[in-house]
Amino acid sequence: MLSKKMEDAFNAQLNAELYSSYLYLSMAAYFESTNLAGFANWMNVQVQEEQFHAMKFYNYINDRGGRVKLGQIDAPQVEWDGPIAVFEATLKHEQKVTSLINNLVFLARDEKDNASEIFLQWFVNEQVEEEDNAGTLLGQLKLIKDNPHALFMIDRELSQRVFTPPVTKGE
Ligand code: FEO
Repeated sequence: MLSKKMEDAFNAQLNAELYSSYLYLSMAAYFESTNLAGFANWMNVQVQEEQFHAMKFYNYINDRGGRVKLGQIDAPQVEWDGPIAVFEATLKHEQKVTSLINNLVFLARDEKDNASEIFLQWFVNEQVEEEDNAGTLLGQLKLIKDNPHALFMIDRELSQRVFTPPVTKGE
């Protein structure tokens, strides 16, 4: 059984994951509007990843006898000043999510909730990958600067990304 504190914190994280999904969908729409379909595809895969994260929290709260309470999802930003600005915002957002996950781990320790601490380890590892993905793309975009040919090549590469559900119970 989850403590009330853990239940509230997991519900807040469920909302944060849904917001992440909403933010990346807004970024996908922005890329569609600038004719960068590969970048839009990359963001759409990101949307699915975030929905997967949200459902892991949803299922975990239920499995532990907690009550899922859905709240309002904030409206995301709509416009950005080019791909570099988008990936700067993505990296910053993922760094914020990492600190949210770390705070959940600290709370689980305070609450002596071993099951939650173990459950959260998956997200600790996932955040390393999330920050690395965004940081690598940001670095590449900074490298090519305003070279349209190179941007086109990256766009083509990003069009290949597909969502593969991680091998996990998806608790
Ligand atoms: Fe759910 Fe991108 O972290």
